[in-house]
Amino acid sequence: MTQTTGNEITSELRTKLRELAAAVAQHSYSPYSRFRVGAALLFTDGSIVTGCNVENASYRLTSCAEQAAIARAVSELGPGIRLHAVAVANLNDSASMPCGACRQTLSEFGDDDVLILYPAEHGEAAETTLGALLPHAFRGSFIEPR
Ligand code: THU
Repeated sequence: MTQTTGNEITSELRTKLRELAAAVAQHSYSPYSRFRVGAALLFTDGSIVTGCNVENASYRLTSCAEQAAIARAVSELGPGIRLHAVAVANLNDSASMPCGACRQTLSEFGDDDVLILYPAEHGEAAETTLGALLPHAFRGSFIEPR
């Protein structure tokens, strides 16, 4: 876990998040897909937590990089974490953005305006928001006890 100051996501900070995501992807456990993914999460308090994908011989038990990073962040920082930005990277020179399940996982800890940094075609640095990736997210506030 590292720490930043201020709330602005400068171009330097965006670059740093992308680099951290690529660095942690080196640790990916992905003997089945060989698709090495990393995620770097920036929280509203300036903390940064990273994670990589961890596969399993029982394929559906695979943890995506974003999910691994969220689990690590809650473990290290506690349940009050709020996302500010997310960078994803892969070491396969492929375009990739968070999968559907990861979008839902991220939305548990972030609003629609969370910045998402991802590699587009030809490794081009692209960005969007969580709300654009997952409009009308299912949120805990919908769950009314009966
Ligand atoms: N993967 C991620 O880590 N994040 C995503 O958002 C998409 C997919 C991983 C899961 C699996 O280990 C590999 O990429 C191929 O699907």
